[in-house]
Amino acid sequence: MQTANEQKYTASQLMEMEARYGAHNYHPLPVVLSRGQGVFVWDVDGKRYYDFLSAYSAVNQGHGHPKIVRALQEQAARLALTSRAFYNDKLGPYEKFITGYFGYDKVLPMNTGAEGVETAIKLVRKWAYEKKGIEPYKANIIVAEGNFHGRTTTIVSFSTDPEAKDGFGPYTPGFTAVPYNDIDALEQAIRSNPNTVAFLVEPIQGEAGVNVPDAGYLSAAKALCEKYGCLLIADEIQTGIARTGKLLASHYDNVRPDVLILGKALSGGVYPISAVLADDDIMLSIKPGQHGSTFGGNPVAAAVAVAALEVVRDENLADNAARMGDIFRSTLKELTAGNPLVKQIRGKGLLNAMVINDTPESQTAWNICLQLAGNGVLAKPTHGNIIRFAPPLVINEEQILDATRRIAQTVNDYAQAH
Ligand SMILES: Cc1ncc(COP(=O)(O)O)c(C=O)c1O
Repeated sequence: MQTANEQKYTASQLMEMEARYGAHNYHPLPVVLSRGQGVFVWDVDGKRYYDFLSAYSAVNQGHGHPKIVRALQEQAARLALTSRAFYNDKLGPYEKFITGYFGYDKVLPMNTGAEGVETAIKLVRKWAYEKKGIEPYKANIIVAEGNFHGRTTTIVSFSTDPEAKDGFGPYTPGFTAVPYNDIDALEQAIRSNPNTVAFLVEPIQGEAGVNVPDAGYLSAAKALCEKYGCLLIADEIQTGIARTGKLLASHYDNVRPDVLILGKALSGGVYPISAVLADDDIMLSIKPGQHGSTFGGNPVAAAVAVAALEVVRDENLADNAARMGDIFRSTLKELTAGNPLVKQIRGKGLLNAMVINDTPESQTAWNICLQLAGNGVLAKPTHGNIIRFAPPLVINEEQILDATRRIAQTVNDYAQAH
């Protein structure tokens, strides 16, 4: 007898099932995928697409990378989960590897990005009470307007996006939002609250629409944190692991964050893995029993993360992202020059966006993405009128040129027809 996993459905049956039985917390493009390899995914009817979302930058190493899949399969078959009640033979070597890779004393392993952010928040609060002498429970963390750090109740409490925040109160106190890319506002906020313990920031705001701050913003923020004795927490969940053309986007400003949060591509897209890295002075503020997760640091995650980071290093994915990103932006600008719908093309490495010249409420970017899917490229609008373009970092020159031509053709045809 066929099992539920073996049963075949049409694309429309599959979309109807999700609508009927699943919560309506996403609004996907009407494309049903069933296979992926490298920079490509295929739908249930066998149509091939360039994946220009890469699961929000989780699939930097490409779909089905053989080394990462092998690590997953072999470890899952040998020993998948022990919990942290016992030691396992993969966690220690992973911790040694990742701390050496990024240059920190210690790592705290978690699963999802939001958990990584929650961990960083708890860590700096604990540090502040123990090391900085902040009065209990007065610690304040500064965040940036337009931030996206995940979906927990605490994290949405300091979101400035009504869609993410509204309706989910009561909200967690202890956060102050300042305009992004505004160093004076940051200094003013730090000075006006002596209980400030940290600044939590994305080196490039991904979900907000690939907002690239001025060169020197992050280094100036780090200098302010040093001046006032607070910590810089970089959320590199989307920008890290070579996405922007360097191992970390912070490296563009030669910044070493005090607390570094990683997720997404730490797993090569095959498993939820996140991590918080910091030095002993900060990390040892959390003691046994004070924080953790059943799955965090499990043997599969440890083996997969090592393989995923080795692939990034051995295949020079940061350099490739930088080179392919330059080709992408310059070619797309050239091919869409004069198109009244294209307001701006921006980004770093392979984290890019096209701002469509229409209101955020308009359907234009969504409709362009529908046509783009028809032309074999998958991308999705973020915040209404901004289309993010973030292919796997293993993309080669021929592929990036082919995909860029398809994108330009689609946007140009759309402008002509409307
Ligand atoms: C910068 C940033 N932080 C945190 C998150 C949350 O990660 P997760 O969806 O794995 O919880 C995301 C996800 O898009 C992100 O882009």
